[in-house]
Amino acid sequence: MNDAHHNPYRRRLLQGVALAGAALAMPVWARQAATTAGTGGHDEAAILRAIPSSGERIPVIGLGTNAYGVQTAEEKAPLRTVLQHLARLENSVVDTAPSYRNSEAVLGELIEELGIRERLFLATKCTAPDDDVAAGIAQMEASFAHLRTDTIDLMMVHNLNGADAILPTLVEWKQAGRLRHIGITTSSNQQHAETAALIERHALDVVQVNYSVDNRAAEDTVFPAAQARGTGVLLNVPLGGRRGSLFGRVRDVPLPDWAATFGATSWAQVFLKYNLGHPAVTAAIPGTTNPANMDDNLAAGRGALPDAEMRRRIEAFWDALPG
Ligand SMILES: NC(=O)c1ccc[n+]([C@@H]2O[C@H](COP(=O)([O-])OP(=O)(O)OC[C@H]3O[C@@H](n4cnc5c(N)ncnc54)[C@H](OP(=O)(O)O)[C@@H]3O)[C@@H](O)[C@H]2O)c1
Repeated sequence: MNDAHHNPYRRRLLQGVALAGAALAMPVWARQAATTAGTGGHDEAAILRAIPSSGERIPVIGLGTNAYGVQTAEEKAPLRTVLQHLARLENSVVDTAPSYRNSEAVLGELIEELGIRERLFLATKCTAPDDDVAAGIAQMEASFAHLRTDTIDLMMVHNLNGADAILPTLVEWKQAGRLRHIGITTSSNQQHAETAALIERHALDVVQVNYSVDNRAAEDTVFPAAQARGTGVLLNVPLGGRRGSLFGRVRDVPLPDWAATFGATSWAQVFLKYNLGHPAVTAAIPGTTNPANMDDNLAAGRGALPDAEMRRRIEAFWDALPG
């Protein structure tokens, strides 16, 4: 592990120096990202948004890895390619959790093998069941080991489990430099009111919440609380989730003409651009194990986004589709 990981500021500085002065020493994909100002070599600029509390800019499309708990080399191969594609854009979010089977360990292994730790914004989670802070601390120490890093860019309390009890520890670890941002997550509408209350009670950098065109409940509770407090918003299950994926409902539905007005060429891009069009949203973390789908999702993070009027039109279209 190199020194840059001990000091995140040095790490960012080194990244800046590398991008400005040493482009030729980089692999081709990294050089493309640098020389095209972060577009990954595509025509339209990738959209970056700042986490309000730190001002740190992240690409608006990241990666969810709840299906990365795999075992064999064959299973790991496409995941390695997904990560390579994602890392073309500096500071891309990778979201994981100790509860996603051995996903953290698989990510730690692949990220080290690819040498891309410096290009990623690594986010994981912890819990303090029954307010057991010692258990949460043990879990976080295991995450550092599995992810093979000395600094975690974002640590979130998973599903609010023990949030009030363990958040003071997260604040301490952030002050000590082991964590760079802290937050909470939920993917249940039943927890939205409690999530909004926690946003008000604690100084959180980020809240991660479920939101898609099929489930817009966070607009009424979590989004306004986050906007009022200056809390960044990451969207989980932005494509409806692995079990409730939005794609079944549009399987035989051609893309409407209006999709081209904001540059969407697939249903995934329509869904993700719809999500990103909400002003409260910092980034979305669609889950994928498929490199072609990763590229499709990354394309949603470039070019135009639907404005408020177009978002209403997408909602009306979705709501009128047969169940
Ligand atoms: N409470 C929490 O904290 C919480 C809860 C749930 C999720 N999360 C996080 O949020 C992430 C995202 O949620 P999710 O992965 O459950 O659901 P999701 O992102 O809404 O959807 C993932 C599903 O969409 C498919 N998909 C992805 N891109 C596609 C594309 N371009 N075209 C067609 N299909 C596509 C994936 O299949 P392929 O793999 O074949 O691409 C997978 O079946 C998770 O991975 C996890 O990191 C957090």
